[in-house]
Amino acid sequence: MDRGRAAALLLCVAACYFVTTSAFKEQDFKKCETNGFCKRNRGVKGTKYSVDPASVKVDGAELTAVLINSEPQEPVKFNLMLRAYGPVLRLIVDEQPSEHPGRYQIPDILMPGLKQRLTAWKGQSTAHTWTGSVGDVTVKLTFATFKLEVQVKGSPAVVFNSRSMFNVEHPRKKQEGDPEGWWEETFNGHADSKPAGPEAISIDMSFPGSQHVYGIPERATNLALKPTAGADVASEPYRLYNLDVFEYEHSSVFGLYGAIPVMLAHKKGQTTGIFWHNAAEMYVDVETAKEGQAVQWITESGVLDLFVMTGPSPAEVTQQYGVLTGTTAMPQLFSLGYHQCRWNYKDEADAFAVDAGFDEHNIPYDVLWLDIEHTDGKRYMTWDSRLFPNPVQMQEDIASRGRKMVTIVDPHVKRDSNYYVYKEASEKKYFVRTKDGTEFDGWCWPGSSSYLDVTNPEVRGWWAQQFTPDRYQGSTKHLYIWNDMNEPSVFNGPEITMKKDHLHFGDVEHRDIHNVFGYYYHLATAEGLIHRGSNVSVYGEHGDRPFVLSRAFFSGTQRVGPIWTGDNAAQWSHLAVSVPMVLTLGLTGLPFSGADVGGFFGNPDAELLTRWYQLGIYYPFFRGHAHLETQRREPWLFGEDTTRRIREAIRGRYALLPYIYTLFRHTNQTGIPLMRPLWFEFPDQPALYGVEEEFLLGPGILVKPVLQAGAQSVDITLPEGAVWYEALGGAAFPGKTGKPLTTAVHMDAIPVFYRGGVIVPRRDRPRRSSAAMANDPFTLVVALDGSGKAVGDLYIDDGRSFAFSKGQYLHRRFIYEHGVLTCDTMPQPTGTPEGTLPSKLLIERVIILGLPAGKAYTARSTVNKMHSVVSGAGVDVRLAKGSAVVVRAVNLPLASDWSLRLLEGVAAE
Ligand code: GLC
Repeated sequence: MDRGRAAALLLCVAACYFVTTSAFKEQDFKKCETNGFCKRNRGVKGTKYSVDPASVKVDGAELTAVLINSEPQEPVKFNLMLRAYGPVLRLIVDEQPSEHPGRYQIPDILMPGLKQRLTAWKGQSTAHTWTGSVGDVTVKLTFATFKLEVQVKGSPAVVFNSRSMFNVEHPRKKQEGDPEGWWEETFNGHADSKPAGPEAISIDMSFPGSQHVYGIPERATNLALKPTAGADVASEPYRLYNLDVFEYEHSSVFGLYGAIPVMLAHKKGQTTGIFWHNAAEMYVDVETAKEGQAVQWITESGVLDLFVMTGPSPAEVTQQYGVLTGTTAMPQLFSLGYHQCRWNYKDEADAFAVDAGFDEHNIPYDVLWLDIEHTDGKRYMTWDSRLFPNPVQMQEDIASRGRKMVTIVDPHVKRDSNYYVYKEASEKKYFVRTKDGTEFDGWCWPGSSSYLDVTNPEVRGWWAQQFTPDRYQGSTKHLYIWNDMNEPSVFNGPEITMKKDHLHFGDVEHRDIHNVFGYYYHLATAEGLIHRGSNVSVYGEHGDRPFVLSRAFFSGTQRVGPIWTGDNAAQWSHLAVSVPMVLTLGLTGLPFSGADVGGFFGNPDAELLTRWYQLGIYYPFFRGHAHLETQRREPWLFGEDTTRRIREAIRGRYALLPYIYTLFRHTNQTGIPLMRPLWFEFPDQPALYGVEEEFLLGPGILVKPVLQAGAQSVDITLPEGAVWYEALGGAAFPGKTGKPLTTAVHMDAIPVFYRGGVIVPRRDRPRRSSAAMANDPFTLVVALDGSGKAVGDLYIDDGRSFAFSKGQYLHRRFIYEHGVLTCDTMPQPTGTPEGTLPSKLLIERVIILGLPAGKAYTARSTVNKMHSVVSGAGVDVRLAKGSAVVVRAVNLPLASDWSLRLLEGVAAE
């Protein structure tokens, strides 16, 4: 064995040890102090940047100017551009062309067609300023010192460089005696050669009047970001750098597996979003200043390319961000069911036993997952033939019960010339290279590994061809994929990742693309799944929609597939922090996410596991998963009571699938998240701005998870301006922000409320999987607001293919008003083809919450003008603390227009 290999093996032994026995190791990761660009720029002040007034030119939608740094002996000039795309602004500062190779700008993230949205400025200059406006948005550019203020309807939204922290580390020649860290720096024995020298950019932004800022995932911390700088605050800044963080801690500023450089600031009447379109490492300091939240944002390299989403509502900010980077891909329906995972299901017999266990215990589930141990020596897309001798039969068998399987495929490729993936990729020179141009050899699960350079479109195209059954032997169309470790994780690399001076396609340094690497891998895999079904490479019409789960992510990941929050722990604190984590992802455009139910590390007791399922059914992505060394924890292993409670919870998820699928269609069309903080729906109530222990699923369901062991009661904030109905029992409570409702809790359920004014579609018949529900009728829960009204909708399609995008869908609207429930066509956003899916599905039941109690009712339906009495005897008034009127056996066709009139005290005809 050569010395390099021996050293690598030693490192692996250390890494493997580290993987199984120790807790979060702070010393493995950089801090601002030990990270040159952050240390140099954190708190930088009083820089001398000004706009040359003579350079300011406005051509329609684009203002250009020259920005001068007059600090150095020879002033340095930059190009500044300011564009408006309707309510979205874009500020770019880049180097003027020089001998320097130039700064990197990431391709592939912004949506094509943005240009068409460019909107012309109406502007005017004075000697010191330029003021321009587009619609309700006004900007004022102050020349010296450079400052940019953005106002919406006359009220300040954001001010850039009001604290003079703007700084661009300009290109320079390396000189003898350069201060340490400018050209070369070393961390834990790993040298970074930094061939381009210092390249960082810092900018400050203030949000006048805003109490909080939100966003910049991923980290396990509060929804409203706590200050990291300012008087009496001593904290690391927030970091955006995709890392495989072993045993991450809750309540930490530490950056985890994914990064979305998007921040939202909110105050009454104004939500403002910022998106820094840049995939290099970043730090963000948040300070609570007198005038509002003040932020300093620093990146290691690339250009300043800032978008401002001016809202003004939170929903509009998420929509505007959706216009920039795309919205959530429409998932297959099965992927919204329950996923059962474990590292590892040992062999085929184990897989079958788990599958059978769900049927035996009458618990629905949709997908069974196989982790890394199913492979032949961690050669992904192969099988351990001793443990899984008949993978095709196994998948077919599980599919015969309407279910799917998922296998893991990681981006590190075992360096073994007998492994077809490695051999071919190596021959084609498709791997990431070291700074000397040789194939990078890093350490991960298989041992010595190379990493596909997925920034290269040709490599992505090749990777996307690997998922057809002739290449991926033992795979079937029932098999979907899980991409893990794509930060990328390198056990023997600096901070468990790749060196920044490694080289990608076009000799781009890893430094410039680090945060987008995982996205590209995820994208190429998803294209592979589309390709295998349709024989066209991208977005074929007839193939199935892909399903690929990823751990790493970036802006744009929402167009590809879901993510999960990585290796959490079976602890109450991790259960609690999963809520702000998933909410933050939703606010920053990536709503399809969830945490490992039960907690990955450690063993949950029955109470924690039950509470986790009761919350997990509301995560957009709902999967149970556990570490190799944990005890088995399939839902039936904790005694009858726990099995019953988990069964009820999971059945609750399945009942809500029509509502959840409809919400996915909305997020697919608009970018508005499914899981929402209370302030998102009630933006004018400051007392809600910090609430993170409860949330809304869509507009209509409020969830209060139980986050403490042994809880006997919980305090629930029910926002003002709505009436709330307990989901179990229907009792009505008027919203009173600031005056929580204290309610006793028991182990059978967590408190959940329907919001008055919203109609929620459900499917209440328990089945074994989502596929088995395909022909089931629907129930509508009509929760009335104070004036006796409610609205809602229901979206269906084949749940599987891309045909919906050509009109093969049905989207129906329900309105309840003056005692009449109507069903008609849901209006669609411009450009959506008319929905023409034929359907025989029925609404079988209507439950109305909020009618006066103690009265008799009958109902009369009119379907396409044919009158009929639905029921007399079947109409049932049930009284709980409040009242629920259940109209049974209405059997109204979903595809037709109809109305259902509820008549008080009228006997059946
Ligand atoms: C990583 C993943 C975890 C997976 C394990 C083995 O730790 O985050 O979910 O089970 O690798 O593949």
